[in-house]
Amino acid sequence: MATVRVSLGNRGYDIAIDEPGGIGPFVAARVPSRRAYMIADYNVAARAERWQDELNEAGITSRLTTIPPGEASKSLAQLGILYERLAQAHVDRQTAIIAVGGGVVGDLAGFAAATHNRGIPLLIAPTTLLAMVDSSVGGKVGINLPEGKNLVGAFHQPAGVWIATDSLATLPDREYRSGLAEVVKYGVGLDGEFFDWLQAHSEDVTAKSPAALARVIARCCTLKARVVEQDEYETTGVRAVLNLGHTFAHAFETVAGYGTWTHGEAVAAGQVCAGRLAARRGLLPEADLQKVIHLLKAWNLPVAPPEPANVDAWLDAMKRDKKSSGGRIRLVLPTRIGSAGLFDDVSEAEIRGVLDGRAQ
Ligand SMILES: NC(=O)c1ccc[n+]([C@@H]2O[C@H](COP(=O)([O-])OP(=O)(O)OC[C@H]3O[C@@H](n4cnc5c(N)ncnc54)[C@H](O)[C@@H]3O)[C@@H](O)[C@H]2O)c1
Ligand SMILES: [Zn+2]
Repeated sequence: MATVRVSLGNRGYDIAIDEPGGIGPFVAARVPSRRAYMIADYNVAARAERWQDELNEAGITSRLTTIPPGEASKSLAQLGILYERLAQAHVDRQTAIIAVGGGVVGDLAGFAAATHNRGIPLLIAPTTLLAMVDSSVGGKVGINLPEGKNLVGAFHQPAGVWIATDSLATLPDREYRSGLAEVVKYGVGLDGEFFDWLQAHSEDVTAKSPAALARVIARCCTLKARVVEQDEYETTGVRAVLNLGHTFAHAFETVAGYGTWTHGEAVAAGQVCAGRLAARRGLLPEADLQKVIHLLKAWNLPVAPPEPANVDAWLDAMKRDKKSSGGRIRLVLPTRIGSAGLFDDVSEAEIRGVLDGRAQ
């Protein structure tokens, strides 16, 4: 068990990992009223109901609403449905939204919390590995448009994050491995020692050993917290490091349609593209690239762009990515394992070179 603090002045909060006290007291200490509105997807509804009972014991009454699982729910249509339900339930500014689920629920319910009544308190109880190590921390919430991922969103820090690692027991293997792609990202972009540890303990991680899980989640949350503390609104470039592999990944996801690959699978392949581009520039030693590929493969993650290749469409999507400016693609590239930087001088030819499978 561990608690990671995200220090953001009066927007600071705790991430509780397997804290013995239970979700009831955790929430009760962090919300202004004794009312909460829980949002979960169907797949975690049973878990959400158990947490409702625990909240009840701590004196918090809650309603639960469920949404269909999957990336397609991060939509304007689903957001509209949620707004109506919140209004019908008379959710006021004192009522907290509790998001129970993966990144989809966190991002969607979080955006509803950021905007309903001009913003109400949000607690997140992530149930996927990806959400535990990444999406629940840092306050980014939002939805997708058909034109691109996360195009509508806000910064809305939660009042707390409640992680119970035993939720991962029911998570499908493919989803678990997808979360590991983000875990690799932290090692490659920010912490070489952590990467080495992952390499040495990859089997424990595959087996979801409780000790390994707790360590991985606490380390990733700490790394993300330190980055977010330095660059809460992604203005200085520090936070951009967390986008390692993501410009490629978003292009793969946008072109294939959300749901073909999981986000994590796209991030795995995207990291390899970024790594290969960096290696070809002489930024990253080839041996380091091979280490990254090796670890991703050990966790059965894709290490090349999807097939068939659709290079023109991917490039187009990358230019439209909201991190690009004036059509110029900005990329986070690893400079060694444990460090990465933001580059805005990458040519189209270099990008084509790593996107086109035949050239590899
Ligand atoms: N806000 C951020 O900073 C941020 C960061 C990274 C990713 N994201 C977003 O997160 C989303 C991906 O999140 P995700 O990978 O968690 O996907 P997800 O929310 O779609 O969850 C994956 C699947 O697992 C199911 N599930 C969740 N928990 C379960 C459990 N304990 N047992 C059984 N099934 C369970 C869900 O119902 C779903 O079918 C993407 O939309 C991505 O853009 C956001
Ligand atoms: Zn991601």
